[in-house]
Amino acid sequence: MENFTYHNPTRIHFGRGQIEKISCEIPAGARVLLLAGGGSIKKNGVYDQVKKALGARVTHEFFGVEANPDFDTLMQAVALARREKSDWVLAVGGGSVLDGAKLVAAAVPHEGDAWQIPATHGGAITAPPLPIGAVLTLPATGSEANGNAVISRRAIKEKLAFYHPLVYPRFSILDPETTFSLPERQVANGIGDAFCHVIEQYLTFPAAAEIQDRFAESILKVLIDEGPKTLASPHDYDARANLIWAATWALNGAIGVGVPQDWATHTIGHELTALHGIDHARTLAIVLPGLMRVQRETKRGKLVQYAARVWDLHEGSEDERIDAAIESTRAFYESLGIRTRLSDYKIKADETAVEVARRLAARGETAIGERGDITPARIEEILLLAA
Ligand code: NZQ
Ligand code: ZN
Repeated sequence: MENFTYHNPTRIHFGRGQIEKISCEIPAGARVLLLAGGGSIKKNGVYDQVKKALGARVTHEFFGVEANPDFDTLMQAVALARREKSDWVLAVGGGSVLDGAKLVAAAVPHEGDAWQIPATHGGAITAPPLPIGAVLTLPATGSEANGNAVISRRAIKEKLAFYHPLVYPRFSILDPETTFSLPERQVANGIGDAFCHVIEQYLTFPAAAEIQDRFAESILKVLIDEGPKTLASPHDYDARANLIWAATWALNGAIGVGVPQDWATHTIGHELTALHGIDHARTLAIVLPGLMRVQRETKRGKLVQYAARVWDLHEGSEDERIDAAIESTRAFYESLGIRTRLSDYKIKADETAVEVARRLAARGETAIGERGDITPARIEEILLLAA
């Protein structure tokens, strides 16, 4: 196990009715920018609960943060926050709204071009961001308990991630009932995204990190068990609760400490969203099976472990078990209704493979993955396997 420092500063309020805790978390004299998406929170009662909890606090609302939050939209929210002298950002929605809130919070005090924040992966943040609170309505990204954000900029076809320790939400509210209203597609996306977050931190090479491994495997198993239950019975509170908590732990940093991490599936997937507008989780389902195949040798030890401990595959040769684990992964995504081939999205694999490899190379991403051995040629190979 490698050395690490672990600190997660986000306070979580979990369960029914917890939205009222906003009133204890945000100071009474705060000037709040409430950031939201396209309006789902007005239909499912979340907005009313949030407004009640905010009480008399001066609040300005910004609706319209889109899925894959767009830089230009967020800059309008920054302008509002500056104009109204907001000193807190409250994100109410899914990962896109939470990620957007992180950019807004960092951009309000930022001098100069705020695109530098994602463009430098957070390095450009020097002024302390505004404090952020979150009410999460979609289990998927882990954004409710991490310092990451992924920002799209459609005008230039870019999608870039940034991290900064000062953009973790100060608090996050996770009420499983707020997720009852999710469309099936978004529930499936969330399960598929969280699954891949675990894989990116787990399926690398053995690092003698037993806690991280066993914990990662248990999150995967919970997603495999509870995901389909949630899809079958959308009002099953316990299944929803387990799903949210699994998604939070998938990317709150805990399973990634002291171990090698991959993230190539995400890096390649973000390009597919930037180029073709495919939902984030769906891009991961397209990339992951091919990546497992192409990286089979460097990941061999962990693939065998994954086959045994997650999919209970114990029969046959090592290679047969690895093949079966890769196919189980693909079948799991397909069982959620997430298609795993580029042709399912009417995308030509050969053209896209070349373009994605070219774009990543232009950005210096020529040696990704836990061993830095995923080259542009391998990226093409991975995407061709997803034809
Ligand atoms: O905009 P509204 O009207 O709220 O509708 C949203 C949106 O259309 C809807 N929704 C959310 N909660 C709902 C609901 N509809 C009904 N009932 C509810 N309770 O769901 C749609 C999708 O929402 P979005 O926030 O885009 O989904 P998700 O949480 O999957 O976030 C995806 C974004 O997160 C980034 C992705 O790249 C993508 O931009 N990621 C962020 C990460 C992080 N911060 O650590 C890591 C991830 O790997 C990921 O890259
Ligand atoms: Zn993701």
